[in-house]
Parts: sequence; structure tokens; C-alpha cells
Amino acid sequence: MSTTTIVVNGRGIRARTGQTILEAALAARIVIPHDCATGQCNTCRVRVYDGTVDDRGTQLGDSVLACRSTILGEAVIEYDEVPGEERRVGAVLSIEDLTADIVQVVMGLETRLLYLPGQYVKVEFRGFPARDYSPTLRLDGSADLTEIVLQIRREERGVVSTALGLGISAGHPVKVRGPFGSAYHRLGTKRLVLVSTGVGFAPIWAIARASRLREPGRALTVIAGARHAHNLYMRPALDWLSSQGATVMLTCSGADDTPGVLAGRPTLHLPRLTPTDTIVACGAPGMVASVELLAAAGGATCYSDPFLPARAPASLRDRLLGFFRR
Ligand code: FES
Repeated sequence: MSTTTIVVNGRGIRARTGQTILEAALAARIVIPHDCATGQCNTCRVRVYDGTVDDRGTQLGDSVLACRSTILGEAVIEYDEVPGEERRVGAVLSIEDLTADIVQVVMGLETRLLYLPGQYVKVEFRGFPARDYSPTLRLDGSADLTEIVLQIRREERGVVSTALGLGISAGHPVKVRGPFGSAYHRLGTKRLVLVSTGVGFAPIWAIARASRLREPGRALTVIAGARHAHNLYMRPALDWLSSQGATVMLTCSGADDTPGVLAGRPTLHLPRLTPTDTIVACGAPGMVASVELLAAAGGATCYSDPFLPARAPASLRDRLLGFFRR
């Protein structure tokens, strides 16, 4: 190991070769946003403007994961300033079935938690383990500033999701911590392509709505898919996006002949990606990995949030990610 200098958001710091970017930054009291520190959550994605690092398989365009990538020598690193991690307490306000498999949970917090559309938070319903969820909006676009709206899939053996409406109901105390994640809305002029499967639509809807309201002239394509047609709960949101000039597509990878629903996975219906596109993919890890590859092939800027099984131990999550990223 030798020492070198890296520049992080304009500040030069001493670092050791072989150290991760995150370790070196934290040692210099620069808090690059991070969560898992094991390469799973994408929160610590940073851009490498100059120099080289060992990205250890995490490179997407000009970005790498700071918690995995190690320093080889001088480098210039940039990360986005995002709202810092905070904690809030609150209670469940309502739980409503959107489909037989998907439930909408609205929580009220004592005070607002700042986050960017598309980021995720850790939610702990009292008596249950914490889970990662992406705050969104109701399908009509509404949400108060102190509300957190979640869309959650009921997993067959999910400790938390199976308790929604049973052990967890209105009034249940919650703790919320965050925000985390790098797949959030960024203002821009490039075409924005948003892709989701299942409840990956939650962050995609938050990003799409923010984009339409804040940059209505920007080209926007939204592709939302589900394995089963009965889980295509996002129609009202897509109808609004369509009315605002966005190109929208609903896809179903299972057998289905519902009018207006395209057959196959969302990636089948992706437009050809070019360097002038920004794409965000949220949902099934396999879909997200495919989108990352297609974005890399087309030179598009890509941000992603793979929804990994909450109950999988870290080693299995690593193997899953490794498999899907191959
Ligand atoms: S903190 Fe680096 S991927 Fe989670």
C-alpha cells in the first residue's frame, strides 16, 4: 500500500491505495451517502471524473460504487449532495389493497422527512424487522408533506408484508430512517426513460410525477410491467402521465390478452438507448441487470434500484447480485 491524493467533491484528501473510496472519504470526514456498505443498495454511487479506480465490477458509465471500488492512485471523485439521513416516528394512517397481492400503506410522520423522488427509506413497524421501501404518491398523485405512501407486495412468507392489515393496522407505530439510494430524480434535458416491474413502480411513479411537474418539456417514456395482469395497478398513474405527454407502456410477462397491455417483459419494449438518454430501472434484479447492460451498450446514463429479497442473508444477496450482474 502507498499513499496518494484523491479529490472528493473538490476537496483533496490523503488516501491509501487499496482502500475503498468510501473508507478514504469517511476517514477524512467526508460522508458520501451510503447504506449497506457491501455493494447491494447503490446508495454510494459516485462519478469518477479523472484517474482510475478498481471498480470491482460496479462500473455503470462513468460511475462506480464507492463502498466496493478501491483506490489505485490519484483520482477525482464527485457525488451528488442529497438530503442527509434522519429519523422520524409516526403511525400507520391507512392500509388499502390495490390488488390481491399489492397493498398501499400510508403513514403519518410527526415532522416531514426530506428525500428525493425515487430514494428509499427504512421502515420499522413496531415489533417487526425494518424493511426498505420507496416512498411514492397515491395513484392520483396526492401525498401530504408529512405522509409516507408505500406500495408493498405481499410476499408469501414475508414477515412484514403478511402482517399488513392483520398485526399491523391503522394507528400502528412506525419508525422511519433515511433517505438512501441513487435512483432518484435529477433535472436534465436528456430523454428520461423509466422502467419498472411490480412495486418497482413506486419509485418510478414518484420520479415520473416529479419530472412532469418540474420539467414538463422533457421527453419521458415510462414502461411498467408485472408478471400477472391483475397486478397492473398503475393504470391511473400512467393515464395521467399519458395525458401530460409522456409515452407510457404497460407490459405483462405472463399469459394475458388485456387490451392495451403489451406481452413480454419491459426490456422487450425499451426504445433504443443512446448517449442522450437517462434511464432509471427499479424492480426485479434480473430486469434491472438487463437494463444496465442495454444502457451500457447504448452509452446511456443509468441509475438503478434492484429490489432484493428482504429475508435473504447477505451472502445470498451477494450471490443473487453477482448472478444477475454477470
Ligand atoms: S453503500 Fe455502497 S452499495 Fe450500498
